[in-house]
Amino acid sequence: MTNITKLLLLLLFLMTNLQASVANGKNVYLTHCASCHSNNMSGSFGKDFNLVSYERTKEEVKQYIVQPGSLYKSFGYSANAMPTLPLTGQEIDDIADYIDSLQPFKKSMIKKR
Ligand code: HEC
Repeated sequence: MTNITKLLLLLLFLMTNLQASVANGKNVYLTHCASCHSNNMSGSFGKDFNLVSYERTKEEVKQYIVQPGSLYKSFGYSANAMPTLPLTGQEIDDIADYIDSLQPFKKSMIKKR
C-alpha cells in the first residue's frame, strides 16, 4: 500500500468514527436531553443546542453534563435546574460530538468564551 492510500484510509476511518459518534449522540439527545433542550430553535427549558454549539467548546459541554450543580454559576446561571444524568463516559463523548456537529461552519467564526 502506498503512503497516500494509507493516509486516505486513516481519514476515512476517522470520519466514519465521528459520524458514528454523532449518530449515537443524537440517540442520547433524544433519550436524555430533548425533554428540556430543543435542537431547532423551537424554544425550550434549557438552552437550545444550536446556541450551545455556537457558544461552548466540546470540553465545556462535557464538564457541564458531569457536574451542572457546581458549574451553573460559572456558566452564567443564577440557579441550577438541570439534573446530573446517569450517562456513561462514551455517551457523554457522543452527545458532545452531536452538539458540536450542529454548527459545523459558523462556529469557527464566532469567538468562544
Ligand atoms: C430536566 C431538564 C434538563 C435535562 C433533562 C437536561 N438539561 Fe441541560 N440544562 C437544563 C437547564 C434548566 C439548564 C440551565 C442551567 C441549569 O439549570 O443548570 C441547562 C444547561 C445545560 C448546559 C449549559 C448551556 C450553556 O451553554 O449555558 C448544557 C451544556 C446542557 N444543559 C447539556 C445537557 C445535555 C447534554 C443533556 C442531556 C444529556 C441535558 N442538558 C439534559 C435543563 C435540562
